[in-house]
Amino acid sequence: MEILLEDAFVLFGIFTTFIFFLKVAQCLRYLVLTKWFGVPSSFFNSLGEWAVITGSTDGIGKAYAFEFAKRGFNIVLISRTKDKLIKVADEIEHATGRKVKAVQANFTKRDIYEHIEENLKGLEIGVLVNNVGMLQIPNPCRFLEMTDVDKTIDDMIAVNMVSVAKMTRLALPKMKQRRKGLILNISSGVASSPTPLYCLYSSSKIFVERFSRGCQAEYGSKGIIIQCLMPYGIASKLSGLEPGVVTRSAEDYVRSSLDGVLLGDRCHGCLNHEILAFILRKIPHWIIHADKFLNKFMDHVMNTRGRQNNHPH
Ligand SMILES: NC(=O)c1ccc[n+]([C@@H]2O[C@H](COP(=O)([O-])OP(=O)(O)OC[C@H]3O[C@@H](n4cnc5c(N)ncnc54)[C@H](OP(=O)(O)O)[C@@H]3O)[C@@H](O)[C@H]2O)c1
Repeated sequence: MEILLEDAFVLFGIFTTFIFFLKVAQCLRYLVLTKWFGVPSSFFNSLGEWAVITGSTDGIGKAYAFEFAKRGFNIVLISRTKDKLIKVADEIEHATGRKVKAVQANFTKRDIYEHIEENLKGLEIGVLVNNVGMLQIPNPCRFLEMTDVDKTIDDMIAVNMVSVAKMTRLALPKMKQRRKGLILNISSGVASSPTPLYCLYSSSKIFVERFSRGCQAEYGSKGIIIQCLMPYGIASKLSGLEPGVVTRSAEDYVRSSLDGVLLGDRCHGCLNHEILAFILRKIPHWIIHADKFLNKFMDHVMNTRGRQNNHPH
């Protein structure tokens, strides 16, 4: 019995050491592929002339638009508010000298795709960033406590899910013909596991992950890269967060994520978020799904927001 116990301990030790070295190896692979080798600029230059970004007048989408313009692409901005579109298009043209086309569309509506297709006609699209997304109000909250539950369900499915499939449907055929193209689909870290208080949102983002990875398997051999990005906190209007150790600024996050476009069909987009995902996976659900924890979490978010709102910027 004693020998059996000793063998079990030794086996457990070997297993733990193996897992530890596996994780270190994964971290090293990440660093080697992103920091030391990175992605050569010739890779981006070879994709095509235009980058199309949805939800591109603020936050992560705006940061992608600027970054791709800096890397030599002409940009198609697709977003909801006309004034913001004109302003961001001007900013990008002045800062980078690239052409910018602004397309006004509200992704809560189902009848916008003909209008978008018309505007994309004749453009050599090298990059599509399916970025547009919405969260429930208030954020966070329980499913039935969302403001206007029925409308939120319809809108969130249209914005977070339908837009990804429809925009891919518009861009992919020409990419397939040219055997070149990059599609980045912005999911979320909360899609990594069931996430109470973001029930509908995290479910919509798991659609993005499954759709994206399935498409990559189907079209990877046709020369197209389709990657799903699953960020955690990014400072933006949608999240209401400020940059910190874990929360990245949109510009910073976008640069890191572009260093990792060859990492595979799914990643968190920056090292901090890869580490956070690893830690979160280790916390048992019975702790973070407990009612007490959820209430504390909501109080914490509300208090932090209250403090930030009182803080003069
Ligand atoms: N921020 C985070 O912490 C975080 C974390 C994980 C994943 N994400 C995902 O990242 C993506 C971008 O988020 P963000 O934080 O950058 O958001 P954001 O700062 O709120 O920007 C959202 C952009 O999308 C546009 N937009 C919103 N609803 C639209 C609609 N119905 N039709 C057309 N355009 C619309 C907005 O335009 P208007 O200003 O005109 O409304 C704005 O340009 C989302 O898919 C989000 O789920 C964000």
